[in-house]
Amino acid sequence: MSWQTERRAAGVSKILITEQELQRRIYELGKELDAHYAGRVPLMIGVLNGAVAFMTDLMMAMTTPVEIDFMAVSSYGPATRSSGVVRILKDLNQEIEGRDVLVVEDIVDSGLTLQYLLDVLRRRNPASIEVVALLRKESRAAVDVQVDRVGFSIPDEFVIGYGLDYADRYRNLPYIAVLDPAAIQSEAETAGV
Ligand code: IMP
Repeated sequence: MSWQTERRAAGVSKILITEQELQRRIYELGKELDAHYAGRVPLMIGVLNGAVAFMTDLMMAMTTPVEIDFMAVSSYGPATRSSGVVRILKDLNQEIEGRDVLVVEDIVDSGLTLQYLLDVLRRRNPASIEVVALLRKESRAAVDVQVDRVGFSIPDEFVIGYGLDYADRYRNLPYIAVLDPAAIQSEAETAGV
């Protein structure tokens, strides 16, 4: 039995991307970004809460000096599909005019959240905007949104771990896993749905 199997949490039906696979790929992305931003100081914008783990590991995989800031947008709540209605819950602490902005996203599913965010950021006249997403569900790319770098393409399943949540839980799993449908059922029962 591997250590991943031993650490498997309740609610996890299958581990999709192990901790080692995540770290190896994030290191590669960090090196690509170092080359891309050589001589510049990008402002990394993490999309809360899901991108926290990825943003932390990605910035430490880079040797280029970076600055960081965060935005929070409304998420699905207890549902597992994007409504397309996005609200800014927390805005940036600083102006981005003339800055090289690197948006760090956890996952692009329909693309609606990212599209909304990019529209907001573009109106603030940054020098450039790039997007790096840890995960992309290729089969559900509903809108043609800018994503410059992707860590992993994954099948259309609801995933948790490494920052990603279901009903605000499971973010602290060190791997990406598929949520057990039985966990959705028991959450719904707890919430009285
Ligand atoms: P989109 O607007 O459909 O692209 O959804 C993007 C946002 O929904 C992400 O930033 C996540 O917060 C959330 N999300 C989408 N798919 C998943 C998933 O499989 N697990 C957890 N959160 C997800």
